[in-house]
Amino acid sequence: MWLHPAPFDIHEGDDVYVWLRSDRNTGRAKVLSGPIAPDPAALAAAQPLKTDGTPERPRGDVATRYLVRYAHDGSTCSVNEARIHRVYPRNEQPTVIVTFDTTHYRRLARSQVYPPDSVLELGSSYGLCTTILHEHSNGQVIGIDNSSLLVKECQAKYPHMQFECVDVMQHGERVDALLQGRTIVFVDIGGDRCLEDVVAVLSFIMEKMKEVQLIVVKSESLVRDLEERDCVRPDGWIEDAWWPSIHQVVKTLQGQALLGSDRPKAEPWYLTAKAAQFVRKPSRYPSRVTADGQWICRVHNYTRAGCPKIDACAYNHSVCHHCLVDGHRALHCPIDGPPA
Ligand SMILES: C[S@@+](CC[C@H](N)C(=O)[O-])C[C@H]1O[C@@H](n2cnc3c(N)ncnc32)[C@H](O)[C@@H]1O
Ligand SMILES: [Zn+2]
Ligand SMILES: [Zn+2]
Repeated sequence: MWLHPAPFDIHEGDDVYVWLRSDRNTGRAKVLSGPIAPDPAALAAAQPLKTDGTPERPRGDVATRYLVRYAHDGSTCSVNEARIHRVYPRNEQPTVIVTFDTTHYRRLARSQVYPPDSVLELGSSYGLCTTILHEHSNGQVIGIDNSSLLVKECQAKYPHMQFECVDVMQHGERVDALLQGRTIVFVDIGGDRCLEDVVAVLSFIMEKMKEVQLIVVKSESLVRDLEERDCVRPDGWIEDAWWPSIHQVVKTLQGQALLGSDRPKAEPWYLTAKAAQFVRKPSRYPSRVTADGQWICRVHNYTRAGCPKIDACAYNHSVCHHCLVDGHRALHCPIDGPPA
């Protein structure tokens, strides 16, 4: 079961973790009702307008709130949605939560981990997320990283916590040993890590783990693939067919890499546009057609949000406008220069 949740997707009856500054109001809770929309008069009074007349973001005191009941003492409280984190139910099958954002990743460390969980963190870096995991698992966390410098720094700074220098791409045996007995794995070996590496690490974990109930992974390339192939449902759950299909995507990418000197070269106008981070208007790129003569949509290929018309647009949305290969957008075209 795969999940790519929107950060603030809260409903009546949800189990949540409320994170407020005071200890008394921090902890597990249930959403009783909401959302309680901010009072329009208070909103108007508190909300400064921007020069174009549109409101700024709502301030904390007038933001959307939910009524929650705390598990520890049964008291209720109306809480700003930004302070409420959903706690996803654990199922028979392990859940994998995918995010691309460090703040969300750390929110998940705070909200999804609780005793008697035991956590392995791949890519512990400066130990910032490790300290959150340590707090929420009663100290049952090991952080690993392939940078011996970072590991030494963490060991010195947090002597009560466990860190080990392991390269997850190379020391499979050690990772396997560390996985045993763990219920949760957090994976962040660099948010911009290529799809092939992330898929390899996740496949390895899923093959070796026995008791793992939850994997949380931070990866831009996974999220990009999910979004490009439109595999996330509105409630955040990911289509079952997605993970099996990703192995084909990886094979195609590896095939392109293996082509070596036969690998196609990037078009000069594409390299210029890429260097400028694709700021020019989509219509300024050359008009191009697919092998079977369909015009290729440039809005789909060169804007991050993609083509807003989707089905109503008569142009082709599957082939890359740059290399004409199926399955990715020109924004993310892997053919970006002469072969290495
Ligand atoms: C973006 S940082 C992780 C930040 C962390 N999630 C946090 O919230 O503070 C990624 C870390 O992964 C580590 N890393 C990269 N490749 C790795 C590998 N093959 N094995 C282990 N660690 C790796 C890097 O050294 C880096 O410290
Ligand atoms: Zn279009
Ligand atoms: Zn391409």
